[in-house]
Amino acid sequence: MIINVTWLSHACFMIETGDAQLLVDPFITDNPLAPVKADQVSADYILVSHGHGDHIGDTISIAKRTGATVISNFEIHNWLVSQGLENVHPQHIGGGFDYPWGRVKLTIAHHGSALPDGGYGGNPCGFLFYIQGKKIYHACDTGLFYDMKLIGEEGIDLAILPIGDNFTMGPEDALRAVKLIEPSRVIPIHYDTFDVIKQDPYQWAKRVENETPAKVSVLKPGEQIEL
Ligand code: NI
Ligand code: MN
Repeated sequence: MIINVTWLSHACFMIETGDAQLLVDPFITDNPLAPVKADQVSADYILVSHGHGDHIGDTISIAKRTGATVISNFEIHNWLVSQGLENVHPQHIGGGFDYPWGRVKLTIAHHGSALPDGGYGGNPCGFLFYIQGKKIYHACDTGLFYDMKLIGEEGIDLAILPIGDNFTMGPEDALRAVKLIEPSRVIPIHYDTFDVIKQDPYQWAKRVENETPAKVSVLKPGEQIEL
């Protein structure tokens, strides 16, 4: 079965497994690059990496409209329940869970996680998906960390890495991340959405492909790849 991975700009992805639609970090309404409208997106599961507005985004309205199950850390779980959501599955860093469509494990991420109202969002995370024998690592918002090497030891088919700098890894550290993870394929994210994170993803892709065996897919918002 083919897995479709669609970039909805910034850190937002739709992963379609054939069994389920997984929406990651749905920052759509206030996102100048979003190729879709929040009230048109469907989802069976919504994964939230941390509490910042450019990640938790439209989670509440999409979850209420679609009935999607939200997966996040325990602290964001508590906050979403207090906002009226009922289908929320808490996990935490290092923990994986088997869903009907596959497994997801929360990984460390070095960043913040305050919620839009200033509430405590726990620690931020990345996601490691195990779907139909494929492994997808979405680093979400993070600085470079050496333990990416441990994540890479699992054999990553697709790594989704921020390159925007300022709030997360920039191009230099994202290149070092590729060398630690050694994925087959990479998609750069978290750039160009705001002025302070403007980058040239094509130049980055050239460097990655010159210096590592990884193949880089630079996507336009709304474009997808198949795994
Ligand atoms: Ni953030
Ligand atoms: Mn962010």
